[in-house]
Amino acid sequence: MTKKFYITTPLYYVNASPHIGHAYTTLAADVYARWKRMSGHNVHLLTGTDEHGSKIEQAAAAAQMSPQAYADKISAEFRELWGHLDVVYDDFIRTTEPRHKEGVQAAFKALVASGDAYKGVYKGYYCVSDETYWTETEAPPDEKGRRLCPNADCRRELKLTEEESWFFKLSQYGPRLLAYYKEHPTFLQPPQRAKEIENFVAEGLRDLAISRTKVAWGVPVPDDPAHVVYVWFDALLNYATAAGWRPGQAAPFNELWPADIHLVGKEIYRFHTVIWPAMLMALGVAPPRSVYAHGWWTAEGQKMSKSKGNFVDPQDIIREYGLDAFRYFLFREMPFGNDGNFSAEAMKRRYNAELANDLGNLVSRVTNMVDKYLNGDLPGRPNLDVAVVTKRAVAAAPDIADAMDRLAFQDALNRIWAIVGELNLTVDQRKPWVLAKTDPAALKGLLFDLVGALRVVGGWLTPFMPSTAAKIQMALGVRHYPGPLSVHEIIEGPAGQRILPSVPLFPRKP
Ligand code: ME8
Repeated sequence: MTKKFYITTPLYYVNASPHIGHAYTTLAADVYARWKRMSGHNVHLLTGTDEHGSKIEQAAAAAQMSPQAYADKISAEFRELWGHLDVVYDDFIRTTEPRHKEGVQAAFKALVASGDAYKGVYKGYYCVSDETYWTETEAPPDEKGRRLCPNADCRRELKLTEEESWFFKLSQYGPRLLAYYKEHPTFLQPPQRAKEIENFVAEGLRDLAISRTKVAWGVPVPDDPAHVVYVWFDALLNYATAAGWRPGQAAPFNELWPADIHLVGKEIYRFHTVIWPAMLMALGVAPPRSVYAHGWWTAEGQKMSKSKGNFVDPQDIIREYGLDAFRYFLFREMPFGNDGNFSAEAMKRRYNAELANDLGNLVSRVTNMVDKYLNGDLPGRPNLDVAVVTKRAVAAAPDIADAMDRLAFQDALNRIWAIVGELNLTVDQRKPWVLAKTDPAALKGLLFDLVGALRVVGGWLTPFMPSTAAKIQMALGVRHYPGPLSVHEIIEGPAGQRILPSVPLFPRKP
């Protein structure tokens, strides 16, 4: 039994339809998963939907539907979108499924039995939108005497709430968490986010209310039916319940646990790096190996919100530019880990300049020249010593691999486009159409070089633009390979494979 490389996305709330932000995290997981598969790992990618809590209760009521029917509808929209985005996932978990609810109840019972959960009274300022309690000091009154959600992206008015509640003894896990961060320096990713979490934990943790009496839509607390399990306690457990965990199972289990990487947006990083590992410690399960927080997209310079109604719908962009252009844009435009802005103008500019011109034109120029000058017949093994750009592409491999391993997707794409730029420059400077008349041997060597480098580029593009990469490789005669290839196998291509003139990959947009 070899452990799989276990990647997860957040479980998205089903209170509203998916938008570009959800697409981003899931596509990042897909890009990373494809990269890991290419490098020989047996990958397991989990995604799904978070379906309990007052947010969903309210959205369902507004739509005059039962929470379950509403969750069914929106959860299906997420699944459908992942299909349109060419996301290859291995499992999709919904928190309303029995396999999950049973695991949540079992975990709750286990914490009560071990003394890690106890009953008390909770008084605090509650944010319905974020499903979070805030203290008086965290949410001081503003000049109008209102207490607003301290989450800068929310700022909704808080409600003073008092309720009987079950608590998780989070306060006791501070020292163990700090020790865990120290012993596992790759847990908090990217590294620049580590300090904030370490400081937060070092300041001391409060026990966490893990049940609600004011919410009806949730997993019932075992033997205490007036309470439902707090939606975050419920949702976080999905990563383990989807892997088939039940109390008593320590890691490793079912070839999956511990999870290798949880991909999350920065606003839910604390839940995943503080509460979640503490819950696992209390349950006797090893924490995940890493949690990676990426940044946030704005739309045309504005925060996306329901009230503004300015969510970018991935389907609109795909209709206009095609799927691969969308996938490319997301990871070229903003460094993974930072914030960035989506604008229609930037999308179009990158499409025309980088996809239609730099890449698409290059592929059709090169394949057309091989067709025209060599009748589609590329020599199998010409002299690699004169293949200057191919050599450079091969030399860039370790840096690109390193960038991919670090999820530095923009860095990887920048390096790939540097090779694309060199290829274009080589065509312009060495003028194959002149060589065709003056020096046929040199022409052959040059075309071999261009094709070899493009074959490598096609390989690198696979995680980002799977169907474009496949088209390029088809045109360049790279196909029917059973497994991961050595760079030399890729460059040389299969013997006797004809090069076909390529159709334009990215027609220019006026
Ligand atoms: O938080 N830019 O679900 P959610 C980038 N159910 N990413 C964005 C984004 C944006 N503008 N907007 C959303 C929840 N995301 C909980 C998670 S996990 C056990 C429970 C992405 O539907 C980003 O990944 O609010 C963010 O963390 C996630 O969607 C929030 O999705």
